[in-house]
Amino acid sequence: MRAARMRKVRVVSVAAAAVVLVFPVDTAHAIIGGREVPVTGYPFAVMVNSAQGRCGGVLVAPDAVLTAGHCAAAASADGMRVVAGRQHPGDSDGVDVGVRRSWVHPGYENAHQSNDIAVLRLDGQLRYRPAKFAGPGDEGRYAAGTQATVVGWGRVSASGAPATTLNGVTVSVMADQDCAAAYGDYDRRVKLCAGDPHGGKDACQGDSGGPLLVDGVVIGIVSGGAGCGEREHPGIYTRLASFTSDLQDQLKR
Ligand code: ARG
Repeated sequence: MRAARMRKVRVVSVAAAAVVLVFPVDTAHAIIGGREVPVTGYPFAVMVNSAQGRCGGVLVAPDAVLTAGHCAAAASADGMRVVAGRQHPGDSDGVDVGVRRSWVHPGYENAHQSNDIAVLRLDGQLRYRPAKFAGPGDEGRYAAGTQATVVGWGRVSASGAPATTLNGVTVSVMADQDCAAAYGDYDRRVKLCAGDPHGGKDACQGDSGGPLLVDGVVIGIVSGGAGCGEREHPGIYTRLASFTSDLQDQLKR
């Protein structure tokens, strides 16, 4: 009787230990409602660090990174560092490079975060695979209801600290009318919104500037949102396809 109970206790604690191993505590609620993803699977995802804090970015050429306008507007070019290939922000692996010049969309405005996009030209070349990004003919790829992935090193809870690793989560692209119902200043020409019908899955502070992807193609850049993971407030993204000519122009220079 006693031995049987001991055995049972031992079985239960072995099972508990196994659960802990499979779901390490600090990655169970990552980005918001996501999990740790390997940076090698998203080689074009970079951190953009400055004294103003952490943002994400997307490598689109060996020396060019897309980020959010509000990230680049907050810092000077020489105050930003771009970091590629680093899983854990606290480590020193991967490559860290400076920014030679930054272009913030001239139509970017803080009040409604419209045209929330910027291009950073790097001091050197990063040997990581640049991302493909959506153009004007690609709208069909991300109709409402499409599952998309957002990755970043941002907060894993609305009021918490930045993440200690790269995280990703799957969200659904929402219909423009639902985005507009959630946000009075939603502008379908330059924004997208995505979330989860039940809430709990989203980007958060520190993820701004990072990629929203469908089938490996970047369709949006993390821009804003009220709170993080709130059911009634999906995440707002810059609609990349609306900026093709600006980006081509910047990438030529
Ligand atoms: N503005 C934030 C940043 O600077 C990103 C906010 C994204 N929020 C959201 N709920 N999806 O990192």
